[in-house]
Amino acid sequence: MDFELSPEQKEIQALTRDFVQAEIAPHAAAWDREHCFPRELFARLAELGLMGVCIPEEYGGAGADFLSYVLVLEELSRGDAGVGVTVAVHTSAVTLPLLRFGTDEQRTRFVPPLARGEHLGAFALTEAEAGSDAGALRTRAEPDGDGWRITGAKQWITNGRYAGTFLLFARTDPDAAGARGVSAFILDAADVQVTRDEEKLGLNSSVTNDIVIEDAYVDHDRLLHERNRGFRVAMQTLDGGRIGIAAQAVGIAQAAFEVARDYAKERRAFGRRIGEFQAIQHKLANMSMEIDAARLLVYRAAWLKQAERPHAEAGAKAKLFASEMARRQTAEAIQILGGYGYTKEFPVERYYRDAKITEIYEGTSEIQRLVIARSILGLQEHVVATRI
Ligand code: CAA
Repeated sequence: MDFELSPEQKEIQALTRDFVQAEIAPHAAAWDREHCFPRELFARLAELGLMGVCIPEEYGGAGADFLSYVLVLEELSRGDAGVGVTVAVHTSAVTLPLLRFGTDEQRTRFVPPLARGEHLGAFALTEAEAGSDAGALRTRAEPDGDGWRITGAKQWITNGRYAGTFLLFARTDPDAAGARGVSAFILDAADVQVTRDEEKLGLNSSVTNDIVIEDAYVDHDRLLHERNRGFRVAMQTLDGGRIGIAAQAVGIAQAAFEVARDYAKERRAFGRRIGEFQAIQHKLANMSMEIDAARLLVYRAAWLKQAERPHAEAGAKAKLFASEMARRQTAEAIQILGGYGYTKEFPVERYYRDAKITEIYEGTSEIQRLVIARSILGLQEHVVATRI
């Protein structure tokens, strides 16, 4: 067992950290306050190869491994979690499944513009009445001549307003129950109308949209993977995506820890620095320990995915623990800063608001527990194969 990052992984981590310190962290409070999506930033990230870190070079990416990508998400989220989720959805929820499930023609056509960051990707699975129960989706795709006609509405679509490529899930067999009869499609922005910008508790530098697809015609070559097998595409995509969200949670918690630790070393009360009080020391020790534990779960899951080994259970464990840890520990950071922590003078209240969503998207904590339980109890054939 080797806990050392490779020279390449360290280099990518350092490159991202430096960029975040210079170009992201100084603006994060303003982007949050003004609900500003920093559109031009993604061109800069693309120049550094960070919009396609784990995509092979022949497809326009940086050719690094999945752990490098996870390190990038952690660093981005340490500076601004909204930027983190934009890159996470773009990469692991759109570019990677196109690479994995696409035909040669689809890969060559759709992956390079995404990997080079020429446009953003959006993952359109969720609907108003199909969140945790993703298989209940009602968007329809009907055969029409040589292609498909798609009609429906999706909700909470990260990147929706700025995306050029949508990975969209629609029902292709109206008679099939639940998850069966769902297919995956590759849509362009022109096929989609953005109807609403969500107002959120946090992640204000990211966009979350309602979208409508009205009788959009797409050619047959926009079907990704096999007809009626799209739910597996969604599930396998989320198995990997959850590792990225777990990394995002670790990044947010790390940022909160650093502010709390530095504050404890400076702030004086009762004639001493508050870091000299055991109450504060215990909080900081717990924060540091839990961040470490979460990070190890995340790196292990990333390693399993990179090795093409089953990682659904490991990814669900990483996301479940890291997200709950981030919510808990960002609250502790506020507690250490006391009244200051509750104000916008310090960033910890933003970290707390941003951390909360990691317990909800890409599968709630309840869904992660379900995935883990099914795996450890051997309740489903495909999940048995994911045991670690
Ligand atoms: N890998 C491969 N196939 C899988 C799979 C996996 N991990 N999990 C399920 N499947 C397959 C099953 O084998 C089954 O296939 P068959 O029909 O061929 O037998 C099919 O998918 C249906 O599986 P289930 O019977 O398990 O489906 P279910 O309805 O009981 O439950 C669920 C599935 C795990 C609850 C699933 O609906 C789920 O993960 N829900 C959460 C949805 C979610 O995470 N949404 C996130 C939205 S995206 C987002 O948040 C992005 C963002 O903005 C950040």
